[in-house]
Amino acid sequence: MYILSIESSCDETSAAVVSMGEERKILSNVVASQIELHALYGGVVPEIAGRAHIEAISRITYEALEQAELPLNAVDAVAVTNRPGLIGALLVGVSFAKSLAVSNGLPLVPVHHIRGHIAANYLAHPTLEPPFLALVVSGGHTSLIEVSSYTDFRTVGRTRDDAMGEAFDKVARVMGIPYPGGAVMDRLASEGDPHALLFPSAAIADGSLDFSFSGLKTHVINVLHTLRQRGEPIPKADVAASFTETVISSVIRKLELALEAGRCPALVLAGGVSANSHLRRALTGFAEKKGIPFCCPPLPLCGDNAAMIGAQGYYELLAGHTAGADLNAFASAE
Ligand code: KG4
Ligand code: ZN
Repeated sequence: MYILSIESSCDETSAAVVSMGEERKILSNVVASQIELHALYGGVVPEIAGRAHIEAISRITYEALEQAELPLNAVDAVAVTNRPGLIGALLVGVSFAKSLAVSNGLPLVPVHHIRGHIAANYLAHPTLEPPFLALVVSGGHTSLIEVSSYTDFRTVGRTRDDAMGEAFDKVARVMGIPYPGGAVMDRLASEGDPHALLFPSAAIADGSLDFSFSGLKTHVINVLHTLRQRGEPIPKADVAASFTETVISSVIRKLELALEAGRCPALVLAGGVSANSHLRRALTGFAEKKGIPFCCPPLPLCGDNAAMIGAQGYYELLAGHTAGADLNAFASAE
């Protein structure tokens, strides 16, 4: 079955064609990033994002069909991210997908962005199937989700404030690294000492599976400001390495708890921050030690892309989760 999918929840306009069924295959996955437009402002400007999606969406969608070498009438369904995200950005994708589906008599499948991130793993790992525990870490979300079937999800832990990616980006920004600084922090961390500085944990110490990244972020930023006020040099690599180490040990603490509670038959990492080399390595080691299967997406499927939306869209379609022309977009996750 061929799914044409569209993603426009934040600052990437993307369209893809995936072939789903016995085999899960990406036929095309075109991503137009707006990062340069937003870098000037140090973060995503919703108004600019919406306008840039409008300018790109038609071209990107036809490019995806062309690269897949499929005409629109060979497609079996149209899947689109309809939540969560920037409302103006989501509405561009939803309206476009709606008109494509309605005018071509195709089923329209709304897809939750976070579920899409998890589904990126189905495309990369042919034998992966639920149940598993998913750690979804991105610029806007940090959640531990029990995935009991392709369409049954239960959030068992989440951040109570900032997302992990947001914390990476904000610490980077205070060190003068342009938005989004996550990838540069990753490289810097490789050159620093992860034990040079001691930072407070992001794992909430209450037996829950929740995180709080705002305390850690503020602490690191305060340290940076103090060094600057004293006219001392900022050890960027050590800060990046120690910050990354703190984030990872916080995650491991919660995963230990999840494992003890029998909530982690297998571990799946997803979301933009799953590109982080240190996190990938640490979770690979953790899973090996605990004897549980682990997988994460290849780098091109970590960030926002439409192929992951198509993959999840397929399973939503099988479950009968289609929508009509009255489909709406929602900023919130629930
Ligand atoms: O999933 P995503 O593309 O967009 C959202 O849905 O939020 O995630 C983007 C986030 C940004 O915060 C970015 O800095 C972060 O993922 N990121 C990284 C790395 N690559 C991207 N964070 C840490 N290490 C990386 N290598
Ligand atoms: Zn995302």
